[in-house]
Amino acid sequence: MAGQSGAPRPNGKVTVTDASGKTSEYPILEGSMGPQVVDIRSLYRETGLFTFDPGFMATASCESKITYIDGDEGMLMHRGYSIEDLAEHGDYLEVCYLLLNGDLPTVEEKTKFEHSITMHTMVHEQLTHFFRGFRRDAHPMAIMVGVVGALSAFYHDSLDISDQHQRHVASIRLIAKMPTIAAMAYKYSMGQPFIYPRNNLNYVENFLHMIFAVPCEDYHVNPVLARAMSRIFILHADHEQNASTSTVRLAGSSGANPFACIAAGIACLWGPAHGGANEAVLSMLNEIGTADRIPEFLERAKDKDDPFRLMGFGHRVYKNYDPRAAVLRKSCHEVLDELGVKNEPLLKLAMELERIALEDPYFVERKLFPNVDFYSGIILRAMGFPTTMFTVLFALARTVGWVAHWNEMMEDPSQKIGRPRQLYTGEARRDYVPLHQRG
Ligand code: ACO
Repeated sequence: MAGQSGAPRPNGKVTVTDASGKTSEYPILEGSMGPQVVDIRSLYRETGLFTFDPGFMATASCESKITYIDGDEGMLMHRGYSIEDLAEHGDYLEVCYLLLNGDLPTVEEKTKFEHSITMHTMVHEQLTHFFRGFRRDAHPMAIMVGVVGALSAFYHDSLDISDQHQRHVASIRLIAKMPTIAAMAYKYSMGQPFIYPRNNLNYVENFLHMIFAVPCEDYHVNPVLARAMSRIFILHADHEQNASTSTVRLAGSSGANPFACIAAGIACLWGPAHGGANEAVLSMLNEIGTADRIPEFLERAKDKDDPFRLMGFGHRVYKNYDPRAAVLRKSCHEVLDELGVKNEPLLKLAMELERIALEDPYFVERKLFPNVDFYSGIILRAMGFPTTMFTVLFALARTVGWVAHWNEMMEDPSQKIGRPRQLYTGEARRDYVPLHQRG
């Protein structure tokens, strides 16, 4: 049942009895939706015990009002709006505004927000020289980590995290400049000149223009592709306390500047278990090659002695169809129709793989469904993006989520530095033995 948004409400207690027989009580807190939590902040002080939860399997790391996921139901909502509604009716900057401010914008608010984003799309000209320090064959995610981190060396007037206005300017700068930096990373790898942002285009069109235009000919943005890109951006905009968002929060908890925090998020996103999975899906489909080899790869995915996993399948939270994958599956067909590549063999292979896996008891029992990465790679490839750019696009779209969470944390008066503890299993205390006495 949905409750009211606001402060968590107490709803009972959990009693803990330690080894000496001493009991202590911990409040159960109820949010507006989702599982209740046990507030164990005083556990160590009261009992001398830590909790042990590597991978955060049952730990809420913070309180948040931005995004809600019900993994069993396959439900994702931003500020109370379903992802299906937002992807169908909204545009990306509207969703950005929603994530940052808590409500959908009025016409006036949207115009003002779009204007401020548009006015920050250019990067400091000196930054273009920074790119030249990278090898041409550098992975664009390596460039993204470096260049986004380097923004803190260029925008000194938005580094004071205690100043609400500077935090706002840094947030706008990050969302506005990310497409420009992503496009520059792509152009650099292609050996093509950088294309400057165009203020008469909207956010998504401008990005596609900076990616695909070249100075020697006109480039017109295809509206079907712009719509598909906008949908991909909306679907990736935020996803609650995932690994990269938690990384941004942890980095920010020490008081690090926003550009450094987002660079940390990009680094985390790069991993194949997280944002790097869409790139891995394409490599996997290419490796499988033809439908008759699917059973062989499924057997490998099930074999615990084989590190191979079915990329684009499974999710820590979703134990049902990832709602983002459902939207993208539809979008995928629209894009391939528009581009006249409906019979794209990779898409056919992907659909056959999905069909067989969803009938296989191993995947059924473990509730392993396709996730958002399963279809995004196919769409992006059809649009002309090289696989190395897939995670870059994810980072671009997710920047608003990272920024929204970073701001929420900075505005929380109870915010503390993130400092997990450990279950130590190394050597107990021992004396130093002089070198010549060892052996
Ligand atoms: N292929 C084969 N088996 C799998 C897969 C998979 N893709 N995913 C999970 N399993 C199996 C595990 O081996 C395990 O089996 P067991 O119970 O017999 O030991 C069981 O399902 C549970 O898996 P865990 O690893 O415990 O699940 P966890 O929540 O830790 O991992 C993850 C989630 C990392 C996403 C995992 O499913 C995976 O590696 N998937 C492939 C990579 C991928 O697509 N990542 C994208 C995630 S979505 C995103 O970041 C946008």
